[in-house]
Amino acid sequence: MNMKDKLLQLKDQVLKQLVNTKDVSVLRNLEIKYLGRKGELTKILRSVVDMGDVEKKDIGKLANNIKTEVINKFAEVKNSILTKTVNQSFVDVTLPGKIIDHGHLHPVTQVQNELEDLFISMGFMVLDGPEVESDYYNFEALNMPPYHPARDMQDTFYLDHKNKEKKYDLVMRTHTSNVQVRAMQKYGVPLRCIVPGVVFRSEATDACHDHTFYQLEGLMIDKDISITNLIAVTKKVLNGIFKKEMEIRIRPGYFPFVEPAIEIDIKCTICNGKKCSACKNSGWLELLPAGMVHPNVLKYGGIDSKKYSGFAFGLGLTRLVMMKYGINDIRLFNSGDLRFLKQF
Ligand code: PHE
Repeated sequence: MNMKDKLLQLKDQVLKQLVNTKDVSVLRNLEIKYLGRKGELTKILRSVVDMGDVEKKDIGKLANNIKTEVINKFAEVKNSILTKTVNQSFVDVTLPGKIIDHGHLHPVTQVQNELEDLFISMGFMVLDGPEVESDYYNFEALNMPPYHPARDMQDTFYLDHKNKEKKYDLVMRTHTSNVQVRAMQKYGVPLRCIVPGVVFRSEATDACHDHTFYQLEGLMIDKDISITNLIAVTKKVLNGIFKKEMEIRIRPGYFPFVEPAIEIDIKCTICNGKKCSACKNSGWLELLPAGMVHPNVLKYGGIDSKKYSGFAFGLGLTRLVMMKYGINDIRLFNSGDLRFLKQF
């Protein structure tokens, strides 16, 4: 094959390979193979020097043209490969970003926080207490000895645990009242505290009953505390939560740890007292059992009942949230159902 044909064949070969090249590193290798210092095209160009004058002119010109063409083609292919990669990884900074889902506080926690603020503004401490509680603090120190029939008012989860006398002595607390005597023992008098928290009952669940729900205990002990202080504090809190003047009704109640015991009801928030199924056609909703702390309980707490008196109440926190928002099934609260939770 003469030099001219060899050159043309080489050119065809390079151009064919270039068309199929999609990768910069492959392109770089081809460049070295043909145009590098020891490249095939470079070699031919170098050999032109040793050629006869006529051949030198012809072949030299052809070789130079082919070299320019090949160099241009290399540049062109390189460009197109680079633009393609840039296009593939292109980021449009003007597109709207991905919206990150924010969680929020549970409706019970939201109302609990509001209540805490209200009570703190009236000088109350916010206390915590154990959810697994001794029989002593949950019942006995609240004037409910083991034989007391009032224990039947609360269906209790007992824990499979026995004390030295081989008696079952631990329960899941049935109310936040378990912290009453604990608070008296720890802080003494004068005492003003609330105890928001979860409580447990062995209930057959339905729209109004759950095994796990929230209460907010209140306790105020000082000299000359009477039931009027209890009513004043209750009204202030209810008005604060419902953001309007609430009508209340007071009935006698019964709990062994308060004497006298009362039940504070609010005008039904669903029918406004006109009687509906939510208020069992009475126009009133039971919300707040309360009373004056029984002298026996003060004694368990180490407080002299001749000098001091106090009130206690057990606000049904879960119940209050149901009334505030018109929620008709208590089981929604612990269901984890986002369709429910996202509404708050
Ligand atoms: N602990 C009582 C209950 O859960 C409520 C209550 C608290 C009543 C304080 C009177 C005083 O049923």
